[in-house]
Amino acid sequence: MNFEGLLSRVGTGMQQSAIRQMGTVAAQNPDIISFAPGYPAPENFPWDEYGAIADDILRARGRDSLQYGPTRGLPALLDEIMALLGRRGIRATRDELMVTTGSQQGLDLLARVFLDPGDVVLVELPSYTGAITAFRNVQATLVGIEQEADGIDLGDLDRKVAQLRLEGRRIKFLYLVPNFQNPTGLLLSLEKRRAVLAWAADNDVLIVEDDPYGDLYFEDAAGAGDTRPIKADDAEGRVVYLSSFSKTLSPAFRVAWITGPAALLGRFETAKQCLDLCTSDFNQQIVLEAVRRGVLDRQMPRLRAYYQQCRTSMEQALAAQLGEAVSWVRPRGGFFLWVTLPAHVHTAAMLPRAMAQGVIYVAGEAFFVNGTGKNTLRLAFSLAPGAKIVEGVGRLATAVREELAAGGVATPVAALR
Ligand SMILES: Cc1ncc(COP(=O)(O)O)c(C=O)c1O
Repeated sequence: MNFEGLLSRVGTGMQQSAIRQMGTVAAQNPDIISFAPGYPAPENFPWDEYGAIADDILRARGRDSLQYGPTRGLPALLDEIMALLGRRGIRATRDELMVTTGSQQGLDLLARVFLDPGDVVLVELPSYTGAITAFRNVQATLVGIEQEADGIDLGDLDRKVAQLRLEGRRIKFLYLVPNFQNPTGLLLSLEKRRAVLAWAADNDVLIVEDDPYGDLYFEDAAGAGDTRPIKADDAEGRVVYLSSFSKTLSPAFRVAWITGPAALLGRFETAKQCLDLCTSDFNQQIVLEAVRRGVLDRQMPRLRAYYQQCRTSMEQALAAQLGEAVSWVRPRGGFFLWVTLPAHVHTAAMLPRAMAQGVIYVAGEAFFVNGTGKNTLRLAFSLAPGAKIVEGVGRLATAVREELAAGGVATPVAALR
């Protein structure tokens, strides 16, 4: 049967995620060193504790442990999330909170609840591809705002918004990843957080703040104070905030959350009912117990130190192997290092060369909504073990040198304006 004629406009236009595609390549080639998907390192998962928790839940809760749960999420887990949010400076009530099946579902809910075809969403240049695809799937128009070393460029934001208003375009929200952004690793400065909130109030724009990495700051360069969410200072319900246990406990649980004004949460709940009825109740119980038993609190210092070391190994290897040919802004937390190559290098075209050497990355252009960024790439330092990071960067360096030799003399360029 020919399905093509049956597909909806949305179904026809859906785009594959560049990150997921690379994940498939890595899964099929065990010898490849993968710097592509932002997966947490499995050696850090507390396997024994999860095993004991799952066992206890099945025994203690018996028949109830494998049931459907409420769409909003397990009430006891919502209470723990409220306490966790409190430690980030955010006050939220049960009415203002919902568990989602990964933050990715939260992004999809936002698209469904807010966006009609042609509506404008403002995103950073570059921005997280999972958000880009969720918003594009409902045919929103994405307008990119430049970034500087300390995050979004407020001048560019003003200019682009003025132009959009002149054109009579409807801006639905500004999507930001202020903490250790995916893909650049950038940390939005505290001054800019305040300024962007004030700007949003002046211009009556909603902010969507996506924060899966905020607790993963590296103590040699940042602290909890530097990652204070914009939502923490939001007195008028102008910020919708998403966060997740994926990067701290495990992505396999698919347990995350969304918080915002109560009226909006009601809409998200209705939309979620159609998607999955509820997030896995069993997984929520595991996460709840992991939080209650202190697993999360014990994990955090360990994860910060571990990923900090991965970041340092990658930076040292890049400096030693590629020196002047590439540039980057030092990540102060998170999973990613964003590399800029000489202007004439096209990193998507270079990928087969890298794969032949046995290393993969995500070509940067997938993260730009304006077709730029062809000479950039994202390296995740989170997954490959230490020695593999050095070896992988060595393989990447060989591919880059081959590419430069094939394409002419390299001129270093600044990573960000
Ligand atoms: C910025 C950002 N938002 C959302 C997600 C999705 O996270 P989750 O596993 O909670 O769906 C990711 C995952 O990489 C991310 O980097």
